[in-house]
Parts: sequence; C-alpha cells; structure tokens
Amino acid sequence: MELIKVESYSELSEIAADFIIKRIKQNPHLVLGLATGGTPKGTYQQLIQQYKQGNVSFQNVKTINLDEYVGLPTSNPNSYRSYMNENLFNHTDFQLSNIHLPNGNALNMEEECKRYDSLLEEVKGADLQILGIGRNGHIGFNEPGTPFQTKTHIVTLADSTRKANARFFDHIDEVPTHAITMGIQSILSSDEILLLAFGEDKSEALYQLLNGAIHEDFPASALRTHKHVTIVVDSHALSKVFISSN
Ligand code: GLP
Repeated sequence: MELIKVESYSELSEIAADFIIKRIKQNPHLVLGLATGGTPKGTYQQLIQQYKQGNVSFQNVKTINLDEYVGLPTSNPNSYRSYMNENLFNHTDFQLSNIHLPNGNALNMEEECKRYDSLLEEVKGADLQILGIGRNGHIGFNEPGTPFQTKTHIVTLADSTRKANARFFDHIDEVPTHAITMGIQSILSSDEILLLAFGEDKSEALYQLLNGAIHEDFPASALRTHKHVTIVVDSHALSKVFISSN
C-alpha cells in the first residue's frame, strides 16, 4: 500500500481529483468505482472544477457506485443516487447511460444483487475504485464480520454506522436499517484502489487497517491483500499508526 500524506482536506481533495483525472487521461473509457459519504465530497468538487475549466471530460467514463440504502426513494436527498447527482453527475458531462448504482428500491432485491454482479462481471470490475472507510472499518457497506469472498449483497447496517450517518438526516430514525452493497470480493476485483481518509475520528480505523490483523472483523483489512492500493490521508487520521521506516 502506498501512503500519500496531506496537510489539509483541500490538499486531499486536490490530490485525489488529480489522481482520478490522470487515470482518465490514460484511459478515457475508464471504469470508475465511486463512493459516497462526507470524505469524497471535496474530490468531486475538484472534478467539477477541472471539468468546467476544460481540463477533463467524463463523456466516456463508466461509473459503478459501491452501495445504496434500501427503501429510500431515489428522490430523497439522502439516497446515494441523489448524492451522486448533486455532488458530481449534474455538474459534469457524465452520460446517464454510463452511470450505475445498485437499486435500493428493486421489487426483488436478490435479483438486484445478481444484476449488479453481472454488471460488475461485464466490466471486469473497476479500473479504479474510490473508497472511504467507516469508523468500524466498513468499506462500501460491508460491515464487520462480512466474509471477504462476498459479492453484492443486502446488509443490516451496524448501529454505529447508522449513528455516524445520522448527521445527514433530520433524525436517526430516518436512517435506513438496510443497504445493498458491492461485496468485498467485488471491491478487491478492481485493478486499482484509492482510499481517502481524513481526520482524528478515522485514526482508530487507520491503525487497524495498517497495523492490525487481516481479518473479517475489520473489513478494510482485506485491502492489504490487494496489489495496488493508494491511501490519501492526513496526519490526524494517521496519529495512531506505527509506520516502519523500511
Ligand atoms: C458510508 C458509506 C461508505 C463511506 C463511509 C464513511 O457508510 N457507505 O462508503 O466510506 O460512510 O463516510 P464518511 O466519509 O462520511 O466518513
């Protein structure tokens, strides 16, 4: 794993956006795995700015999002479809037909998981997958205890995850109890992974990720088995990590 240390959130966002744009310039038909949450918002703002300045086009980029809440109408501002529209798609030239998210309102969720897996197989996984990390080590919505070989599946969200995400809702009772998420195996099938982590409240998660055991109790530890992971991270998130100089 390669670490890129940053001093500020704006630096994290600029570095992450430049990293993505570089990959798009190398391959305009890039399959880009996208994440939600607070951390990548600045990166998406940077992508929008670079697009408006004419430095990048997303015309031929295909996107596959990690996850979606179950049972939240797509029109709800907290659905990940709305989040992606608001924070990125509506302000750029991504083509609707190239945008893919799991459907959290499908009539048959088992079929929806299969549909998403077929799509992931068709594109042979993401060329570049963007990831955040939950405080309990979740990636996508793969909560602790998820087997590493899992493909797209329905999860019951951990109480701690619902609490962490309640800040985006009016009340914690409005946070859905379930989500559909790409599995850990699907995430690991990406050619390259860019994980973004910022701030003190990610310090325990970064410690577990970099110094802890590779175990299903800490889903993000699966990333240590991947050959091409870059982490953009600030000093506060790294405050508990022991980094060997070798
Ligand atoms: C959510 C998302 C994850 C994200 C995590 C951390 O639960 N499903 O993909 O990585 O939150 O979010 P934040 O960046 O807001 O800390």
